[in-house]
Amino acid sequence: MDGNGRWAQRRWLPRAAGHRAGVEVLTPLLDAAGRAGVSAVTLYAFSTENWTRPEDEVSTLMGLFLEKAKSKVPELNERGARLRFVGRTERLPESVRAAAREAEELTAANDRIDVYVALNYGGRSEMVDAARRMISAGLAPEEVDEGTFARYLYAPEAPEVDLVIRTSGELRVSNFLLWQIAYAEFYLTETLWPDFTPEEFLGALESYASRSRRRGGV
Ligand code: IPE
Ligand code: MG
Repeated sequence: MDGNGRWAQRRWLPRAAGHRAGVEVLTPLLDAAGRAGVSAVTLYAFSTENWTRPEDEVSTLMGLFLEKAKSKVPELNERGARLRFVGRTERLPESVRAAAREAEELTAANDRIDVYVALNYGGRSEMVDAARRMISAGLAPEEVDEGTFARYLYAPEAPEVDLVIRTSGELRVSNFLLWQIAYAEFYLTETLWPDFTPEEFLGALESYASRSRRRGGV
């Protein structure tokens, strides 16, 4: 979900206004995703690298998360979304962790769409954490194959990623779901995240559907 800052700058607004606007597109998008039959979505909300932003922006983002969790979680719950948080959540402020836990508990039984929120998430740290947990579990080297590794990721039940959407014209992966995107298709758009509409999302799905995925075959 990239481009909130630039969206705000273009309007002579503070970056925080861009983050606020970015939250507002979520419900209509997830609605559209649910209707289109998408079973799982991961939103990259805060990366392990985002701590390097100025302190006031980091606290704005955490504050916004807390504020918006109050209104958006019930909204998403009504729509049958099951919320899960992935990342090094133990490093987040306790208030944020508590809100995340509450959201998970409230929505645990929903089955329309799984919405993973990547918070303090990094693809490399996810793999390091998986390796650590395999070692702690006492796995023998020959027990570790791709299937085992996948079971030690943050959300082992999540399907492999079919499509990655990145907004704001950036052409990078930026440490997002490194393991899970091995065969993912990409949809890259100049649109800034707060301007990303359900219509464009459906266009991205159409673009995805028209591709032929060979997965190394012919
Ligand atoms: C993405 O928008 C939002 C988060 C990282 C939470 P940015 O803040 O990266 O927006 P730009 O890249 O500065 O436009
Ligand atoms: Mg950015």
